[in-house]
Amino acid sequence: MTISLAPEQQEKLLAAARSAFKNAHAPYSNFKVGSAILTDRGSLFSGCNVENASYGLTICAERNAIFAAVAAEGSGMRIQAVAVATERDGPCAPCGACRQVIFEFGPDALVLFRGQSGIERMAITKLLPEGFRL
Ligand code: THU
Repeated sequence: MTISLAPEQQEKLLAAARSAFKNAHAPYSNFKVGSAILTDRGSLFSGCNVENASYGLTICAERNAIFAAVAAEGSGMRIQAVAVATERDGPCAPCGACRQVIFEFGPDALVLFRGQSGIERMAITKLLPEGFRL
């Protein structure tokens, strides 16, 4: 079952994501993204997108936040919730690759992002039905 978060926790996570995009390295797209992860231990990790002149090497904010959480808590790290924020106004749902990575560590995760009409709170299984698992 998808995790539910108190409104104050959601706000804290979104604020951390907003703070994270300030460090983004996005000189090619000019699209700065921040993400924050709440783990089941109650810890918070954040990340930003990091682009490269060799465009394909770019890493999204969500995956940087998740990989920092794995590096700190180990392979058993589980995501309760993920927030995404951008410098520009406008929608930004996690990309397909990030959805699969969120699913790996948080099959019950709640994802907070800006949709067409404000902040959306959506289960990862709605964003990624039939996620791949071994
Ligand atoms: N990006 C993210 O960091 N997260 C997303 O959910 C969507 C896209 C980044 C990748 C790239 O640096 C820039 O946004 C434009 O695609």
